[in-house]
Amino acid sequence: MGTMRTHTCGELRSRHLGQRVTLCGWVDTVRDHGGVIFIDLRDRYGVTQVIFDPNDSQQAWEDSQKTRGEYVIQVEGVVEARPGEMANAKLATGEIEVRCDTIQILNKSKTPPFPLDDKEAEKVTEDLRLTYRYLDLRRATMQENLRVRHQMSQSVRQYLDGADFTEVETPILTKSTPEGARDYLVPSRVVPGSFYALPQAPQQYKQLLMMAGVDRYFQIARCFRDEDLRADRQPEFTQIDIEMSFITPEDVYSLIDGLIANVMEAVGKGPVATPIPRLTYKDAMNRFGSDKPDVRFGMELVDVSAIFTGTDFKVFRQVIEQGGVVKAVNAKTLGGVPIRVMDDWTAVAKEWGLGGLAYIRCQDDGEWKSPIVKFFSDEEKAQLQNQLDIQPGDLVFFAADSRSVANKALGHLRLLAGDMAGVIDHSAFAFTWVTDFPLFEVGPDGKPIPVHHPFTASHPDDIDLLETDPGKMRAQAYDIVMNGVELGGGSIRIHDPEVQARIFQALRIPQAEIEDRFGHLIRALSFGAPPHGGIALGFDRFVMMVAGEDSIRDVIAFPKTQKAMDLMMNAPATVDAKQLRDVHINVDLVE
Ligand code: AMO
Ligand code: AMP
Repeated sequence: MGTMRTHTCGELRSRHLGQRVTLCGWVDTVRDHGGVIFIDLRDRYGVTQVIFDPNDSQQAWEDSQKTRGEYVIQVEGVVEARPGEMANAKLATGEIEVRCDTIQILNKSKTPPFPLDDKEAEKVTEDLRLTYRYLDLRRATMQENLRVRHQMSQSVRQYLDGADFTEVETPILTKSTPEGARDYLVPSRVVPGSFYALPQAPQQYKQLLMMAGVDRYFQIARCFRDEDLRADRQPEFTQIDIEMSFITPEDVYSLIDGLIANVMEAVGKGPVATPIPRLTYKDAMNRFGSDKPDVRFGMELVDVSAIFTGTDFKVFRQVIEQGGVVKAVNAKTLGGVPIRVMDDWTAVAKEWGLGGLAYIRCQDDGEWKSPIVKFFSDEEKAQLQNQLDIQPGDLVFFAADSRSVANKALGHLRLLAGDMAGVIDHSAFAFTWVTDFPLFEVGPDGKPIPVHHPFTASHPDDIDLLETDPGKMRAQAYDIVMNGVELGGGSIRIHDPEVQARIFQALRIPQAEIEDRFGHLIRALSFGAPPHGGIALGFDRFVMMVAGEDSIRDVIAFPKTQKAMDLMMNAPATVDAKQLRDVHINVDLVE
């Protein structure tokens, strides 16, 4: 184990009985049991109980009493069996203890600002943990998260190397590449008034590598996006970034199916059934109300418009007459929820654009409690019961609106319902592909906005809709979804320079700006670019879900807060005037 220690604190077992050993680590706890000092000594491998008895060494016994939590010590002694009833089956080293006659205090510690115990540390504010991140990381859970992350990145590299990929690093100081967020900018000293942008993703570089003939590229790449942060979003994060030449989406699906299966196997969370199931974007929206469906449970959205075309219930009839839909979810077993919950959900429905939320609470005796069924005919009720399989104890809720508003609102309520019904298996890992995304969303001013990014190829039959009906264009784009979280996304790229130029024009980017921002790419495409495509997986999100955490901050060694601050380093920070002058910046804070 090296020159300072013979073993780690997680290593000793009965087979080591009688051996003289040297251990190093942190003092986890110190206890005085009737004149004998017990120290739990900790390192990242585990905890070992070491004991100091004045009969073995008066000096060591005295010194051992000077230690406090988080002192760093080196101890020497003999491995002994713990007396029968003292063995600790919960501890890997619980069969033994080390009877010590030598102790050296290698470093002292102030009292930590919070207990480094998993249960206790969960109770303090995250800001405190992040300010003292090096202490927070000493906790067993955080050590485990770092290990899982490491195992996953090793497994990714091994798998992609085995599939003939070349790992290539791309620049961090670069030029704006649009992925839909704000850029982080770095001022240039040499060219006054000019700025580098940190990459939101290596998107253009990886495409340029295909034009360079690299054929199969990957990178575990750092990306930077100045956007509003959430539990699954950081300003700098890591992608498993992949690009391949001469491929169709099928090649991406099978590669990533294999990658995910391998990685999950490597961390003991396999097997993953492959091929990973696929849903079209349209089916995902219609059945789950989301382009990142959580397929760990049912409660699918059902279109019940046909039942209500001629209904007396005005809210439904009017929506249908105006070309909208009525959709419903049967939230099995939730028929007993209090009205209060339905009031909360109605508020949620309104946030998502619905006029209200109609519902039926089906009592155990079969009675339907609902503010709206009085408007339904017997025929409508019978059809509804039949189509939604309504049983005593069920809760059915309805959205009447345009298809897209109804889908999105019900998609959100479905997640609340699934959660409340306790039907989501939190130990399960459910992957799904979402395919055939639209190429654009069309803004209110008729301007197309790329759903993925502007380098994405359309379905080959759709390109001539670009100038006439871009909202109808299908993209060769796909997402991979894990437990209702968007794990990754990618597409087949445009390899024809004229098509790429047309897309930029359709996005209403002025000609001069097209040349300035994307001239290099259009030029590169005109020198024999191979057809190519790829994908990027959010590595932090992948690790978060495998580690069973709710925030990617818990799987990043030094994350930033929701305000994009590094509380430990105290970044961002002001810099001195000379530094600013060097980079030609004049700071004038606007309130
Ligand atoms: P996209 O923007 O979809 O695609 O990003 C791919 C994946 O990266 C993860 N991700 C994030 N993770 C943490 N914090 C963030 N702020 C954040 N933003 C994104 C998500 C997402 O699915 N260049 C394209 C890929 C391609 O076309 O090949 C791209 O970056 O898990
Ligand atoms: P109102 O006629 O607005 O009082 O609505 C009658 C019932 O229909 C109430 O329970 C509303 O919550 C519900 N409701 C209203 N608008 C919608 C809608 N767009 N989708 C579903 N339910 C609605």
